Amino acid sequence: MEWYWFSLIPVPVLLWLWFELIRDEALPIPLPKETIRKMLKLSSVKENDIVYDLGSGDGRALIIAAKEFNAKAIGIEKNRLLVWLSRLTISKNRLQDRIDIVHDDIFKKKIRDADVILIYLSHKLTQKLGPKFQKELNKGTRIISASHPLIGWKIIRKIRTGHFYSYLYKV
Ligand SMILES: C[S@@+](CC[C@H](N)C(=O)[O-])C[C@H]1O[C@@H](n2cnc3c(N)ncnc32)[C@H](O)[C@@H]1O
Repeated sequence: MEWYWFSLIPVPVLLWLWFELIRDEALPIPLPKETIRKMLKLSSVKENDIVYDLGSGDGRALIIAAKEFNAKAIGIEKNRLLVWLSRLTISKNRLQDRIDIVHDDIFKKKIRDADVILIYLSHKLTQKLGPKFQKELNKGTRIISASHPLIGWKIIRKIRTGHFYSYLYKV
């Protein structure tokens, strides 16, 4: 075997890592905390509201919702590493009684009790959630989506959050 074949070894490894990251159709890129605060404010989150983050990543939106808005927060996340990491941060912040992380696929869990839903997902996943929202959510539930509008839904408000817009809807 020629020596230069060894230089190709990292290529499949990199491709595998890239595939692991993109296969959920939503890269695990967290929202800036200031953007989350703006989004929760725009959704008029108040004390004891139940706030869901669908695809909760490292749990930062849940922590902000619980700590700064006194909400009860529930995250659904399918990446086990992020579930572990977010649970660790939540217990470090002693917020276990205000935040729950469900390790599951967002399409497999019912979300009937939500007052506010925050999403920061791919365009495709965002559209896929539309029918689920219509089926499961109570009238008056607020949905705030970062970066991708819900096509066919009436936008209540749209604000600039960093380099993209966030869109507010009401069921
Ligand atoms: C762009 S990140 C957003 C993270 C977090 N919401 C935030 O704003 O910082 C999208 C997250 O959704 C998760 N995700 C993607 N598809 C999912 C699914 N079907 N069920 C549960 N989580 C999912 C990814 O693992 C990732 O952590």
